[in-house]
Amino acid sequence: MEQFERVANHYSSMKNINEPNRILYVRWLKECGKIKGKRALDAGCGGGYSSRKLAEKGAIVSGFDSSRRMIKLAREEERKMPMGIRYFLADASRLGKVGSFDLVTATFVICHAVTEKKLRLFFRNFAKNLKSGGRLVAIDCNPETPTTGYQKGSFISREWVDRPFGNCSRIRTFFHDAEGKRACSVINHYFSRKTTESALEDAGFSGIEWIDFSGVKPTNGDMATAVILKARLE
Ligand SMILES: C[S@@+](CC[C@H](N)C(=O)[O-])C[C@H]1O[C@@H](n2cnc3c(N)ncnc32)[C@H](O)[C@@H]1O
Repeated sequence: MEQFERVANHYSSMKNINEPNRILYVRWLKECGKIKGKRALDAGCGGGYSSRKLAEKGAIVSGFDSSRRMIKLAREEERKMPMGIRYFLADASRLGKVGSFDLVTATFVICHAVTEKKLRLFFRNFAKNLKSGGRLVAIDCNPETPTTGYQKGSFISREWVDRPFGNCSRIRTFFHDAEGKRACSVINHYFSRKTTESALEDAGFSGIEWIDFSGVKPTNGDMATAVILKARLE
């Protein structure tokens, strides 16, 4: 069973109320640049939180996810508040070409590639759907500081399951509730900067940039373990 089938409701409802998480997405959206009228593909869109942010800024958005329940939640939101977002069920490692986009986004999705081979397939599939010069703007786990204990007001905490910093080592991410209790969890996989950059370059990306949140005060665990990853398709 897809791990997000279990946690979809909690994840989607908490997403809208957590402040550190909101700050991450504000910065990510800024890094997406001027997207009014541009075509964006939101990979691993979940319940559509990230897709709606892109649509609010005027992008023409398609979102896909491998979890049926997540896509159902995203479509329900779209019915309640129509923004013209098209959602569909697909796996990033088997996507193929579904369109021609100016921007591909993937917020906390790359860490769900379960092997390095899948990571490379994710990036190749993103590249297939980008116009030449198109951009990938992702948020993901910070390869330098991938784990954190729970801090007040956080949405997540993360701990190693396997050998710390091993290629593809598992990290368990706990999602907390408003009282700080662990509500549910998923497994992420660790990829170093070097592995990620090599996979991006193999897929045809260049101009890779990593932006962390170390200069943002106060930086809590959610932000310290996150990073924005940008790259451009040659
Ligand atoms: C942490 S959630 C992020 C959701 C959304 N992007 C956000 O920022 O709120 C990760 C999402 O990636 C999806 N996902 C995991 N592996 C995937 C894959 N191989 N292809 C497509 N989506 C995937 C999960 O189902 C889940 O909805």
